[in-house]
Amino acid sequence: MRIKGDIRPPGDKSITHRSLIIGSLAHGETLIIRPLRSKDILSTVNAIQSLGIDVDTNNEEIWKVHGGRTREPDDVIDAGNSGTTARLITGVLASIEGVSIITGDSSLKKRPMARIIEPLTLMGASIMARGGRFLPLAVKGNRLKGVSYSTKVASAQVKSAILLAGLAAEGITEVIEPAKSRDHTERMLTYLGASLKIDGNRVVLKGQQRLSGREIHIPSDPSSSAFPAVWAAATDGSELIIRDICINPTRIGFIDVLKRMGADIKMVNTRYSSGEKIGDMVVKGHRLRATVMEGVEIPGIIDEIPILSVAAAFADGETIIRDAGELRVKETDRIAAVVEGLKALGGNVDAMEEGMIIKGPMRLHSGNVKTFGDHRIAMAFYILSKVADIDINLDDMECVDVSYPGFFKAMEALSD
Ligand code: S3P
Repeated sequence: MRIKGDIRPPGDKSITHRSLIIGSLAHGETLIIRPLRSKDILSTVNAIQSLGIDVDTNNEEIWKVHGGRTREPDDVIDAGNSGTTARLITGVLASIEGVSIITGDSSLKKRPMARIIEPLTLMGASIMARGGRFLPLAVKGNRLKGVSYSTKVASAQVKSAILLAGLAAEGITEVIEPAKSRDHTERMLTYLGASLKIDGNRVVLKGQQRLSGREIHIPSDPSSSAFPAVWAAATDGSELIIRDICINPTRIGFIDVLKRMGADIKMVNTRYSSGEKIGDMVVKGHRLRATVMEGVEIPGIIDEIPILSVAAAFADGETIIRDAGELRVKETDRIAAVVEGLKALGGNVDAMEEGMIIKGPMRLHSGNVKTFGDHRIAMAFYILSKVADIDINLDDMECVDVSYPGFFKAMEALSD
């Protein structure tokens, strides 16, 4: 089915989380313009409220955060399904005097936390975890000192947890990553007045700098935009404009992948807004061809691999995805979920330990697909049903509320 029109997807999830958390640490008021109001974001709103921060979310378009002193929470913080909430907030808890407890839903309780426990402990926090590495965590905040830490995986959540702890610490904090992950934390800290040194995959931050609240405009989420973008790119005769997307280079790897596959994509009207580059994306439908996704490109497309796998299902040839073991520890094991879903519809696909081989173009039939409660799996297979013109019955449609409330309605409105 073709797609035609104009869409402005909801605000970016990563940037909205950070505007709330970093806004809490800044002096004065931070105004968040066009925030994403989704389940994951509401987990962060609740978390910072439990730390004594005054947040006003009554107006849909403008939220207000009165930053200042954070305090020991009087109850357990529930991060729900949100890894970003759990990991970034733990970075903040590391320096809050007293004991804080943070937990999450059944999916988040299975996700690895040793990756933040190790550096935060080196900085001086005391953290106890279920089984030594899973939520719930009990964090005893301490006076922290800066560290130089090389992360094992390229993860913006880990880097951000360390930088947020580093902001409260004495001395210098340095984070070195094996590949560059999304850099919204660095950009927002700079935008609110901190000075950071960035050199490739290395970030250096001096502790105890003062941040000042400001107006932060939230651009459209590129990860949410990737769903209608793939729908348009993979169907002949489609033409779609996606407005105000964040085109931060650490987020738009999926555009490079789609272009390599032969997609007709142009960025127009590019400009800067609140320290981030944004623009409008024009996508036209075209026959796609297979590609390889691997190596340092992976961190920049990690959230888009499910929907890029859908694009690959319609492309000519074998698409190979390698070095993407992190997909196994997302909201669900996304390698297993994509492979199981494609197979249930008659697709030819093989799982590898850290990736998959997708043999296109697939001749698919209608069927049932398990989402495993994962928003991006649900949205990817919905788009697949539209491109292939088949009926797919998803076992959980509500899970899209984690990042894109109103997704199905917005997509229906685009059907040509
Ligand atoms: C995010 C970072 C990524 C990404 C997640 C959001 C963030 O996770 O998958 O959806 O906002 O920092 P990792 O940092 O664990 O790779």
